[in-house]
Amino acid sequence: MKVAVVGTGYVGLVTGLVLADLGNEVTCVDKDTKKVESIRAGIAPIFEPGIEEMLKRTLKNGNFNITDSIADAVKKSEIVFIAVGTPPATDGTPDLTAVRAVAKDIGKAIDKPTIVINKSTVPVGSGDMVEQIIKDQGVASDLFDVVSNPEFLREGSAISDTLNPDRIVIGTRRPEAAEKLKELYAPLQSEFIVTDLNSAELIKYGGNSFLALKISFINAMSRVCELCNANIGDVARGIGADQRIGPQFLYAGLGWGGSCFPKDVQGMVATAQGLDYDFGLLKEVIKINEDQTNHFLDRIEHRIGGFEGKTVGLLGLAFKPNTDDIRDAKALVIIDRILKAGGRVQAYDPVASHLVEDHFPAAIYVNSAYDVSKGADVVILVTEWNEFRQIDLARLAGTAKEAILFDGRRVYAPEKARAAGWEYHTIGIAS
Ligand code: UGA
Repeated sequence: MKVAVVGTGYVGLVTGLVLADLGNEVTCVDKDTKKVESIRAGIAPIFEPGIEEMLKRTLKNGNFNITDSIADAVKKSEIVFIAVGTPPATDGTPDLTAVRAVAKDIGKAIDKPTIVINKSTVPVGSGDMVEQIIKDQGVASDLFDVVSNPEFLREGSAISDTLNPDRIVIGTRRPEAAEKLKELYAPLQSEFIVTDLNSAELIKYGGNSFLALKISFINAMSRVCELCNANIGDVARGIGADQRIGPQFLYAGLGWGGSCFPKDVQGMVATAQGLDYDFGLLKEVIKINEDQTNHFLDRIEHRIGGFEGKTVGLLGLAFKPNTDDIRDAKALVIIDRILKAGGRVQAYDPVASHLVEDHFPAAIYVNSAYDVSKGADVVILVTEWNEFRQIDLARLAGTAKEAILFDGRRVYAPEKARAAGWEYHTIGIAS
């Protein structure tokens, strides 16, 4: 099929590449001409396992193209995805400026039957809004359909998630549009959930809110564990073994961050508020998440007697492993608090250091995990990159001023860390 994808962020680029790799003729669009040139040259603008190989392969076989013209892409496509960003506005609700602008340009270009699919994460009612904007450009309602088809991929495993979805949600008014999408996605052999536009939009917000709730729940349990000498690892394993609950997203840590959960949970609260429902449960989920990192920092400060004049080593900066994304990364909260308290930070991340450096030029960014502990008064594991899992803990401890390790992601076995010379502290176990 001939497909256009507007927006080349995580969702747009990965969707476009996977559809191209499945044999469709895909044209991606981005208004950022530098990005367009770079992608056209086979250089992916984001760090994501497998993306460069897929980009080079689909550019070579001609299934993947990129342009800065929405009109060109729409005119040669039967299906057009909107996959532009919906960043949080100052009040935390998603800013739909880009979605509106793109819908307008798509409307101006439609001259034949077209299915317009919204993949951006948007509040309830956005599908209707996109439909109205396209109609306002003079397009007859029988010439186009608007479909909500939310994306569930995770950064760091975006390509494999897109190739192996748990479900494909299609929100539409017309069964014919759903059939066309089922045809497009047929090679993925996934379950289809066909519903109306509003329900599809709520599935996305609801899904992310529930996952965030699960994490906040286990993090709240970790606080209880610390207070009563229980072990959150065993507690989570025991709770998650119930098939009705499941073990996933029950890993206690520094809390959830990234470009999706913070924005979508806020968005869900705001959506409910707009409908006169006070979603107090989710407000508490957000509060627990904010408290989690601060509580860990309180414990560290208490142990080392405050950050002033101390050198703090940070292992990992990205909001999670296998990505260079630092949006709402816990590292930002941690560095900010240490620097404000008069401490020094020396940090290492395999891919994200240069991005954090833009926010905090005063911190030192070292080139190896082992350099993090040199002369450090305390080391904090912030992001659970694989390369930290099997690190030589004794070597790491050897160069520290004080071998005190606070493991924010529960990566190390306490006895192993202690045997390597560390005074070891972690989430969900009393110090
Ligand atoms: C999330 C969802 O998992 C995807 O399904 C969704 O498509 C995506 O948002 C989106 O809306 O675009 P993502 O933000 O890439 O994906 O990352 P996750 O792997 O879900 O992790 C989110 C945060 O939760 C991270 O900060 C991670 O460290 C944290 N987390 C996750 C925990 O603290 N504990 C867990 O058990 C799991």
